[in-house]
Amino acid sequence: MVTAVAYRLATQHAERQRVLDTLRLSREQLLEVKRRLTEEMARGLSKQTHDQTSVKMLPTYVRSTPDGTVEQGDFLALDLGGSSFRVLLVRLKNEKKQKVDMHQKIYSIDQDTLQGTGEELFNYIVYCIADFLDYRGMSGASLPLGFTFSFPCDQTKLEEGILLKWTKGFKASGCEGKDVVKLLKEAVQRKQDFDTDIMAVISDTVGTMMTCGFDDRHCEIGLIVGTGTNACYMEQMRNLQLMDGDEGQMCVNTEWGAFGDDGALEDLRTDIDREIDAGSLNPGKQLFEKMISGLYMGELVRLILVKMARKQLLFQGQTTPQLLTSGCFSTNYIYAIESDKDEEGLASAEKALRSLGLDPSAEDCAATRRICQIVSTRAAHLCASTLAAVMRQIRDNKAAEKLRITIGVDGSVYKGHPEFSRKLNKMVRRLVPDCDVRFLQSQHGSGKGAAMVTAVAYRLATQHAE
Ligand code: GLC
Repeated sequence: MVTAVAYRLATQHAERQRVLDTLRLSREQLLEVKRRLTEEMARGLSKQTHDQTSVKMLPTYVRSTPDGTVEQGDFLALDLGGSSFRVLLVRLKNEKKQKVDMHQKIYSIDQDTLQGTGEELFNYIVYCIADFLDYRGMSGASLPLGFTFSFPCDQTKLEEGILLKWTKGFKASGCEGKDVVKLLKEAVQRKQDFDTDIMAVISDTVGTMMTCGFDDRHCEIGLIVGTGTNACYMEQMRNLQLMDGDEGQMCVNTEWGAFGDDGALEDLRTDIDREIDAGSLNPGKQLFEKMISGLYMGELVRLILVKMARKQLLFQGQTTPQLLTSGCFSTNYIYAIESDKDEEGLASAEKALRSLGLDPSAEDCAATRRICQIVSTRAAHLCASTLAAVMRQIRDNKAAEKLRITIGVDGSVYKGHPEFSRKLNKMVRRLVPDCDVRFLQSQHGSGKGAAMVTAVAYRLATQHAE
């Protein structure tokens, strides 16, 4: 009898391993991902192939990282595109060196607004700005504004952003193909409460690189691993074929979340990845992002649990309506389950599974923890591969033997997951051993960086007007 039970458990364990093995990537596979992204980046930068490539390599019109020039003034910054919407007041002061004061208020955006009409979304944004000004006792004030808008945008200047497509959980109608600066201005005019000069639209990656560049002049990459994932870096103008001029540098927003949308990652995607994609708001799009970021990580785990339960490998083959409901396994559960203290992690697994109406055994809890670890490790390692490709590009540009580089990072997964940053850092060092790399976590989101970009643009615009 005992032998029969032991045999059943051992077979189940082996079966589970087989499912999980499809999510494990070897160093060779990771180097191959790096190689493929390098290829895609080259295609994105080239005039001939840019339109056909999925990794868009978008020019940002940000031409340098903070260079020590001291800026002054009050600026508004908006941050739209992550887990919350934030309005910030950033005060740049010159007290021998640059000082920054920031005040912010976080607003939640409900599902109906995210997926309603563009007019409703932008009305709500303007309502939040008016509320924020009121809260700061500055009603009616007219301040220059920097808009961190974390979606792929075509730009022909800093103060313009034509939304190419919504990503993550956003789907407001009537915005794709439109300039978001114009949409925001129109909403400001409709409300007639305050006026503002929208000086810059930037990606959260750029805001993060600039925020971190403020403290570390080697910071030439901005990385986000949060609701979505993406990176930007300083590229040589001579490589940016879409732009006139060969002198100097410009920050390029890679939009690597869309890596694989042309089939480049098909051999690495599993049936779980395909299932997540099919049930998403944007099927066929952002396939790399869907293997990595916070919006999808919990759902990846949930789908694996369902698959294993159906194969009688977990929960004695039982499922519950909650387990079968998409979005019910929050990515936050993973953070708790992967606690470095085994007992805490297992207790969190039990709590999470019970909240889904299950009655898990100790074996179920341990297996769930293992699933979380494998899903998040794959995410960290994939991210390391793409970062390695970007670092190699910078190194080649500089023809440096050993590159010294800082990566500014932000995002809920990087900051909230107990193991992600360590695994990412370790794998990057393995994949690019000839780089001296530092990861610098942004303490202030992208707000400080957005205000810096806005301040420079505002100074130049007012100088020209004089
Ligand atoms: C998505 C967006 C991208 C953003 C990233 C991180 O990938 O398309 O613009 O930078 O999420 O928020």
